[in-house]
Amino acid sequence: MMHVSEMFSARVPRYTSYPTAPHFHSGIDGATYHSWLSALEPQTPLSLYVHIPFCDTLCWFCGCHTTVVNHYEPVKSYCELLRKEIGLVATALGTRRRVQHLHWGGGSPTLLKEDETNRLVGALRENFDFTADAEFAIEIDPRGFGRANAKVLAAAGVTRASIGLQDCDPEVQRAINRIQSDEETSQVIAMLRAEGIPSINLDLVYGLPRQTLASWEKTLTFALRLEPDRLAVFGYAHVPSFKKHQALIPEALLPDVEMRLRLAELARDVLSRHGYVPIGLDHFARPHDKLAMSARDGSLERNFQGYTTDSAPALIGLGASSIGSLPQGYVQNVSVVPVYRKMLEAGVLPVRAGIRLSLEDRIRRQVIERLMCDLKVDLDGVTAKYSTTRDLLSDSLAALAGYAADGIVSLDGGKVTIAPEWRAATRLVCAAFDTYLVQGTAAHSVSV
Ligand SMILES: C[S@@+](CC[C@H](N)C(=O)[O-])C[C@H]1O[C@@H](n2cnc3c(N)ncnc32)[C@H](O)[C@@H]1O
Ligand code: SF4
Repeated sequence: MMHVSEMFSARVPRYTSYPTAPHFHSGIDGATYHSWLSALEPQTPLSLYVHIPFCDTLCWFCGCHTTVVNHYEPVKSYCELLRKEIGLVATALGTRRRVQHLHWGGGSPTLLKEDETNRLVGALRENFDFTADAEFAIEIDPRGFGRANAKVLAAAGVTRASIGLQDCDPEVQRAINRIQSDEETSQVIAMLRAEGIPSINLDLVYGLPRQTLASWEKTLTFALRLEPDRLAVFGYAHVPSFKKHQALIPEALLPDVEMRLRLAELARDVLSRHGYVPIGLDHFARPHDKLAMSARDGSLERNFQGYTTDSAPALIGLGASSIGSLPQGYVQNVSVVPVYRKMLEAGVLPVRAGIRLSLEDRIRRQVIERLMCDLKVDLDGVTAKYSTTRDLLSDSLAALAGYAADGIVSLDGGKVTIAPEWRAATRLVCAAFDTYLVQGTAAHSVSV
């Protein structure tokens, strides 16, 4: 068997899409996107993602599309652009559409003041019909977040607050340039609950500089005290060649692959012992949370925000760098705000790139999604849906032979099952089905 740390050092994508974003190309532009939008069946329910690419300060570990702003003016004028984009998308769609899921991410969407939050929600409600049970999730940086902010979000109809906790240890916090007291985090959660926001999600990150098993256990214990409905426990993706500021974190301070595996395992042990159900690779939820229920009944899905219960066939991305997923394929907006502005001012959908899905892409995408969600897949079931057979995937099955010999996966005809104790190897198993990976030069993080 290959040495475990060597195996997990392989750099593979997180598979929030397939094909993954580095394979999007400029052949897909605003005009293609316009035609894709206008071809959507009027009854197709939509999911919307709104990206706010701004933060007050920069956390050195951050892998998100964001920039630090010292004044509010750029944020305000960006929100005007977002409203323009919402109008352009609605025009391309032609008729009013039903929305069942809305997610604001970033950056830090909670940087918006009351006026911008309300205007943005107003523009969305003006252009779309939100279903009575529509979810509205928002990512929250608790630092500097107060009661007034919680009131604005509750009045806007937020149903899930996703709070960045990351790590509680003061030394780790210094090493990532993110000082956040336990008291502040607890108070923000209490405020959100007092305002009636029903669901609380916490984001934690393992693999951060100076993390030890003891410090990480303290973070997990604190997270449990906050009684979240869900937790996301991400492995730190360190790719300084791509995110230059990550070079501010000395590599010598980072836990090695073996330690990362132990940190991930500790999170799984502690959270499972306290009644949270492990979901996919890096999420946990209370047994009666919708996420856990959909994991049980096999309807869990994966999109750019991670694991989701959202089943809308079309996800529309709004804002710089946002990615949309339509039945025809993926589209990504430009990331640079001045370019985003210029395109919108010219009345053009601000698309940078995308990819049209081939039949084989669709099949491989479904195989990878089921593996990421269920840790197992029936290749015959998937290929039959597309009137083909698993012969199409024989190269990938052959690539799994080594993992099968090591007991990481079991292969039974067309059924591929990842052994529960090898859950951490899920991305590696998915990579066997990724035909783009070999051609790629993209920077990925280690697989655990
Ligand atoms: C947009 S942020 C969440 C909201 C807010 N900006 C905050 O940090 O509190 C999304 C989440 O991505 C995760 N994240 C950011 N950079 C990461 C990285 N390099 N590796 C793994 N997870 C990362 C963090 O857990 C973070 O909470
Ligand atoms: S982790 Fe959150 S708050 Fe920190 S820089 Fe990234 S997006 Fe901003």
